[in-house]
Formats: sequence, structure tokens, C-alpha cells
Amino acid sequence: MVYEASSKSEALTNVPRHVAIIMDGNGRWARNRNKPRRAGHRAGVKSVRASVEMAVQKGIKYLTLFAFSSENWSRPKEEVSSLMSLFIEALRREVDELHRNNVRLKFVGALGELNSGLRDRIRQSELRTAGNTGLCLTVAIAYGGRWDIVEASKRVAQKVADGQLRVGDIDDAEFSAGLQLSSIPDPDLLIRTGGEQRISNFLLWNLAYAELWFTDVLWPEFDENIFNEALSFYAGKQRRFGHTGDQIEAVEC
Ligand code: FPP
Repeated sequence: MVYEASSKSEALTNVPRHVAIIMDGNGRWARNRNKPRRAGHRAGVKSVRASVEMAVQKGIKYLTLFAFSSENWSRPKEEVSSLMSLFIEALRREVDELHRNNVRLKFVGALGELNSGLRDRIRQSELRTAGNTGLCLTVAIAYGGRWDIVEASKRVAQKVADGQLRVGDIDDAEFSAGLQLSSIPDPDLLIRTGGEQRISNFLLWNLAYAELWFTDVLWPEFDENIFNEALSFYAGKQRRFGHTGDQIEAVEC
């Protein structure tokens, strides 16, 4: 199937270039139906597929999904292992279609902590889609924002220790070059489903100027109406990056 622009999205203006999503609420969705948590995660995969399709249709260039946090390792062993199996299965099933739709797939996080089966799948799907020029889909697995910042700090510290960099020359650009999302622009819009209004150690550095949008809707129920609500919220925002509204309007004219 090839993703096509839908009539609902054609009217959208000021579409964010980069949308990041904290997909929360799978467990509650399952509990509400007296199902095991893994059924919620399985339903969550369908929303992942739908959100990728919608992002392509709406002309979003970058979509970044928080699939598994550094802290999620402390969930019950059987939930962790069913999530890992689900990731492998989803990759096996979806990669052809993503490729057909010109989607480039990238994974970020402490990928060395994952089992070798999942690491191999990740490597294969990244290689397969590396030349694609459409949506850049980034999936964060075993990812934590603090971990990301610590790793970037080690990189600059090493450069200083090796005499390649002076402490006085460390700036935003030098530092952020060591972050996991260094090759793509910062998110413009963060969406979090599931009712909580927090960042939960997601892209701590990169979200500095993102617009934040929260919904009580649980991730398996995320659909085009909800996505459009988030995009309308974003379209109504004037992003000032520390400037005054008058300064921004002067630039826009
Ligand atoms: C949060 O819901 C969700 C997760 C920890 C896992 C997200 C994973 C998926 C949507 C599956 C597939 C992902 C990809 C990229 C193929 P929760 O379990 O914390 O829900 P709760 O807060 O209701 O308990």
C-alpha cells in the first residue's frame, strides 16, 4: 500500500517539520478490556503504523517515537521480553511497506543493551531504508535523555583530553553533535498520549523549544482526529525562541 494525502489533511497549514511522540497508555488500554498488557502493546503497534502513515500524508518530514525507555528495563521480565519480541516482529512485518513508501528508518538509544536478534533486525532495516528520502522515522529504544547527554559529554571530554578541542570552544553546536539526534532538526511538536503531562526523560536537550501537547487518549486509540487536534494546536502557536512577538512578526512580513 502506498500512503496518499488524505482530504482531511490538505487544509493543514504550518505543519511541523519534526513531531516526537511519547506513546503512553497501552497497559491501561489492555486493563480496561481485561486483557494482558502485551495485548495493549500489540494494539499500540497498530497506532504506530497509523501514525507513520498519517505523518507521510501530512507532509511531516521527521517522526520520532519513544518505544522503550532506559527505565523500562525495570518492568516485569515477561513484559520486557514480550516487548522485545514485538519489536522484532513489527520490524519483520513492516519494513517492506516502509521501504515502498520511501521511509528512512533509524534507531537511537543504548542499542548495545538489546539482544542480538533485535540488533540484527535493526541493522538490516536501517541498511535497507538508508537511501530513502521521504519521512525519517526514528525509534528510540533503551533511550534516556540523561543518558544521551552523558554520552555527548563523554565525547567532548574525550576530544579535550586528546587535545582536539579547547574547553572554551565547547558550544551548543559542538555539544549537540554528540547527541543521538544530531543529524536531524529538533522536534517542533511533542505529543504525549495517556494523560500524564511530563517529558519522562525523553529528548531532554532537543525538546528545548518544542511545543508540548498532551491528551488523555490512550496510545492504542490514537487516530487521525487526535493527530489533527495536535497539529491544529501547533498551527496556532507563534514560536518565539526567546524573541518578542513583535520581532517575530517583523521577520515573518
Ligand atoms: C507505554 O505504555 C508504552 C510502551 C512502554 C511501549 C511502546 C511500544 C509500542 C507502542 C509497541 C511498538 C513500537 C514500535 C516502534 C514497533 P504503558 O505500558 O506505559 O501504558 P500504561 O501507562 O497504561 O501502563
